[in-house]
Amino acid sequence: MKKSDYISLSPSTMLNPTPVVLVSCADKENPETRDMVTAAWAGTVNSEPPMVSVSLRKERYSHGLIESSGEFVINLPDEAMCKAVDFCGVRSGRDTDKSRETGLRYVPAENLEIAPAVDGAPVSLSCRVRQVIPLGSHDMFLGEVVAVRVRKDLVDEKGSLHLEKAHLIVYSHGLYQKLGDVMGFFGWSVAREEVRKKRMAQYR
Ligand SMILES: Cc1cc2nc3c(=O)[nH]c(=O)nc-3n(C[C@H](O)[C@H](O)[C@H](O)COP(=O)(O)O)c2cc1C
Repeated sequence: MKKSDYISLSPSTMLNPTPVVLVSCADKENPETRDMVTAAWAGTVNSEPPMVSVSLRKERYSHGLIESSGEFVINLPDEAMCKAVDFCGVRSGRDTDKSRETGLRYVPAENLEIAPAVDGAPVSLSCRVRQVIPLGSHDMFLGEVVAVRVRKDLVDEKGSLHLEKAHLIVYSHGLYQKLGDVMGFFGWSVAREEVRKKRMAQYR
């Protein structure tokens, strides 16, 4: 391509697509006061110990809850939860009971005392805050994953997790999008032809 085939935009966080997650949390003093906030700025940051990040603006109601409790749960939503995900990203828990409005229920999260998980989410990661890093507009919460809960229907008889069957959604430049077909698997570019064919057959 030629240089003239591109234009230059001003520097921004144009890293797309991103995950879009529902982060659930609760008040340390009164754990019945709960919230779920939509976050697109969530990421994987370390393998051992398993750690993830979520960046929240200080003014978010959820920010205060997570800061005081030291716990949060990252719930991966599926297509059926997409409308609720948007709702939780445009209304604050300060003045809205998001569970009542969306119909999403809180359930106890594994290995945590305060933060709940969101019922029905294909995957929920229980996290304990290890660090809060102020970055400017956002504070980045680094959380160690202390439990992972997955919906049973996504696990086969051998115990393998099939997240490709979860109908997860992503967020890309203002749009919620479905995931498409499986194109390959880890290492497929160098796998033997018969291995590649056999493995790919299960995704057709
Ligand atoms: C798709 C989407 C992604 C969002 N991602 C973030 C994010 O990563 N960090 C953040 O601070 N706010 C994010 N927001 C905004 C918050 O979800 C929103 O301000 C929410 O109402 C805050 O709720 P709370 O006050 O109950 O915490 C996002 C909103 C949407 C719709």
